[in-house]
Amino acid sequence: MKTYSSHPKACLEYAEPHIDELLKHSIRTQLESLLKSKLTTEQRQQVLQKSFIDTMTLVLSNTQVEHLQLVNAFESMYDHAVQSMALAQLSQEQLTRQYVSTSGLIMSPHNCKHTIKDVYRIQGYARGIDQAIESKLKHSSSITILYPACGPFAPLLLPLLSYYKESTKFTSKQVNVILVDVHPGAILSLQQLVKDLQLDDYVLRIEEADATQYHPTESIDILVLEAMQHGFTKEGQLSIAKHLVQFLTIDGWMIPQNVSVKGMMVIGETEFNQQWKDVDYSHSITINKSAQQDRVELGEILSINKSTLLNMQELELQDGVKVIPANQITLPSDIQDMNKRIFAIYMHINTFADESVGQYDSGITHPRPDMTFYIDVKPRDIEHTHFVANSGDTVQFYYQLTGLPGFISAKV
Ligand SMILES: C[S@@+](CC[C@H](N)C(=O)[O-])C[C@H]1O[C@@H](n2cnc3c(N)ncnc32)[C@H](O)[C@@H]1O
Repeated sequence: MKTYSSHPKACLEYAEPHIDELLKHSIRTQLESLLKSKLTTEQRQQVLQKSFIDTMTLVLSNTQVEHLQLVNAFESMYDHAVQSMALAQLSQEQLTRQYVSTSGLIMSPHNCKHTIKDVYRIQGYARGIDQAIESKLKHSSSITILYPACGPFAPLLLPLLSYYKESTKFTSKQVNVILVDVHPGAILSLQQLVKDLQLDDYVLRIEEADATQYHPTESIDILVLEAMQHGFTKEGQLSIAKHLVQFLTIDGWMIPQNVSVKGMMVIGETEFNQQWKDVDYSHSITINKSAQQDRVELGEILSINKSTLLNMQELELQDGVKVIPANQITLPSDIQDMNKRIFAIYMHINTFADESVGQYDSGITHPRPDMTFYIDVKPRDIEHTHFVANSGDTVQFYYQLTGLPGFISAKV
């Protein structure tokens, strides 16, 4: 690795009593993981690297791979990555502290560690990133990739880099990666994992910094970002992307190339229960056609890509809260059972070229019911956070850039 750097952090407050149970569990997981590992360091690194390479070989394959085979490969990658995390010897605070920053939720490494098992999210991203890198390297001898909010395992890039190293598809002279995360525990874990994977040559820097403030010194060819939760809520994807997009070269790419956030009115039982009764796992390819037809699509609420990010205008409200105006939607007026439906927000993530993470492929693209938005019906105990509209009304959506990012709506 070329260098590590770390910015001084504000004093952190930890140790809330409610995390006690969580703590016992995580310490046990760490200990078990160490016990399992009776291997020498060299042997442990070899099996770790192999699990990453094997998984990417499956992910990048152009022939269909069985769901179970993928799940097992990702599970193995997770098991070995957790051993590295255990060896990083995070303190309880570094492992479990989770808090809300001004731009969104900062998840603890303990909770983030599972994202390396999110099969179809990583598949959609890794296949897209691979094509983007290949495409860029046709026209230049080396590229710089920035991956902010990468978490303790940087799972959208480290497995790919392991694969490149083994296959010699792209060398460390061609691909330079900057990993950024604000959580000290994620940084320690990343340092250990990069060392264990022997990827130091590909990793230019690991930086401990808030991605909404971070200024890279180099211009960036590819910005890889995934700090989203379902319904495009909670985490700071938009604030991070909006800030970092300015460091992309003119022809630089943001991955995902586009996130389309849409709204729909559904019968909850059909959408979230009945349609999954006869399938083994939920995925965009196992969606039930008649459940799809039963939806009332409201249309796109927001589209996030390089061009919309560069043109986004912030509105500052009286109390200093910043919002981004999103789309206006006119509610359909010919739906008989509108008052029985619930509002849900879902995303389609186009990572690069034809690669994507579709609805239900991952927890992040799972439609999110919003029980504060009503059409043609008033909740019995109406609260000030509830929004009530009628069929035919036009609704203006906004996205609030606060510690709890998400959509708010207003009648036009
Ligand atoms: C869900 S985890 C990792 C997600 C990761 N991108 C992936 O693909 O699996 C979220 C991580 O984002 C980091 N994060 C969230 N907001 C951040 C910010 N504003 N700046 C830097 N890191 C941030 C958290 O510290 C946490 O480690």
